[in-house]
Amino acid sequence: MIIHLNKAKDLIFCDDVVAVPTETVYGLAARFDSEIAIQKIFSLKKRPKDNPLIIHLGRYEDILHFLKSEDEDLLKLAQYFWPGPLTIVGQIKKETILPCARAHLETAAFRVPSHPLALELIRETKPLVMPSANLSGRPSATRVEHVLHDFGEDFPVIDGGDCRSGLESTVIAKINGSCQIVRSGCLLMDDIADVLNYKPLVYKKNDSLVMSPGMKYRHYAPKAKLSFFSEKDNFSEQIVVGFLEREYPGAKRIYHLGSLSDPQGISKNLYHVLRQLDHDLIEQAFIDMDFPREGLFKIICERLEKAAI
Ligand code: TXA
Ligand code: MG
Repeated sequence: MIIHLNKAKDLIFCDDVVAVPTETVYGLAARFDSEIAIQKIFSLKKRPKDNPLIIHLGRYEDILHFLKSEDEDLLKLAQYFWPGPLTIVGQIKKETILPCARAHLETAAFRVPSHPLALELIRETKPLVMPSANLSGRPSATRVEHVLHDFGEDFPVIDGGDCRSGLESTVIAKINGSCQIVRSGCLLMDDIADVLNYKPLVYKKNDSLVMSPGMKYRHYAPKAKLSFFSEKDNFSEQIVVGFLEREYPGAKRIYHLGSLSDPQGISKNLYHVLRQLDHDLIEQAFIDMDFPREGLFKIICERLEKAAI
């Protein structure tokens, strides 16, 4: 059910949950300070309780109230990229954030989204928790129809059209004194490195320190089994997920991610294509993975690999 901003505000004040567009993907929004509303989010998404939520703020200065100490690097990044698709994880004053929102960790994740509707809503309410608006483990929602598919036609959603990026925010944390990317996303490593003056590490799941327990769960996956193809000549009678400028001789059906010259367009389309496979009851699809591993393509590759596990 499409709702307007005022209705969304009323629902949120009543401890309800609404779907909200952001520049990355749609989010399921609820008051950050309401245990009831947060529990609703976990049960709606069927999300494991040990996967913490991102607190979405209306402006940069709001984060200072929550942080235990001010980390120069993280705050420099936030100041530079907010509003935008960067999430920073910092040590918090524990009493400022409900344990259920942060999976009982001593850290919490924050971002200021840049979508005008999301920003207006947050600024008129209070900070909002906003996980991606999809059932846990499934591809994120980048269109209103995806939200309604996962949560039902009557679920309240603010219509912001298709999300501009289509990939989630990049999550960054300070670990052992230096910034590490704990979830890659649409804000790229090189852009972060330019501001930090050093290249952040990419956090490895098997490091002794478990940053976020939620990282162990399966992500972005359609029901269809996904397999990878890199030779271009053996698609006979297969369902193929590929690129507009390529031919896949003999393929039974081709789902186009977009053009290889437009990684931004592919990002925007990625979850829609994965969802389309399920819509069409496809049981197995072969993905053309023959593309460069740089820039956004690297993130697209990572998402596809996770979707295929
Ligand atoms: O683009 C986005 O970030 C979207 C939009 C709606 O803002 N939100 C989103 O939320 O992707 P979600 O809940 O689907 O993903 C949040 C990620 C998870 O990987 C979670 O483990 C990580 O952020 N995270 C949250 N709190 C954390 C913490 N304290 N330490 C490490 N990672 C954390
Ligand atoms: Mg998610």
